[in-house]
Amino acid sequence: MAVSITGQGFIDPTQEPMQKEIIDDILARNATLPGGLMVILNELQNEIGYVSATMQQYVATKLRIPISKVHGVVSFYSFFTTTPRGRHILKFCMGTACYVGGAPQLIEKARQVLGIDPGETTPDGAVTIELCRCDGACSQAPGSDCRR
Ligand code: FES
Repeated sequence: MAVSITGQGFIDPTQEPMQKEIIDDILARNATLPGGLMVILNELQNEIGYVSATMQQYVATKLRIPISKVHGVVSFYSFFTTTPRGRHILKFCMGTACYVGGAPQLIEKARQVLGIDPGETTPDGAVTIELCRCDGACSQAPGSDCRR
């Protein structure tokens, strides 16, 4: 089977046999559950690492629902990503306290060092820069977080 590379340079999981098996298993276990779409998308995000446009189309086709319904959920919740994240997530808070406390300067330094903008991943897949809203650590502003 030919492997499809998306326009963004990563392998389409619905065309890669091992990942497609995971996707099909998730769909088979949850398709008939009440609220199954959310469960399916959560599991796809956790197991595959993202929910690409082709995955959204695949889910919509399998569940026989409009793609707009799937995309509406994926685009609403910041938990979901449509492209693979890096092995490390460098997250900057853009809440008011952090913004005033210097978050833009930290982000600019990260951009200079890593050569990527927020929302992007380094070409080697090591780091993704993300922005977030206040996570309650305002007294320590500016807030950033690095996770694996
Ligand atoms: S504004 Fe950044 S943690 Fe609250």
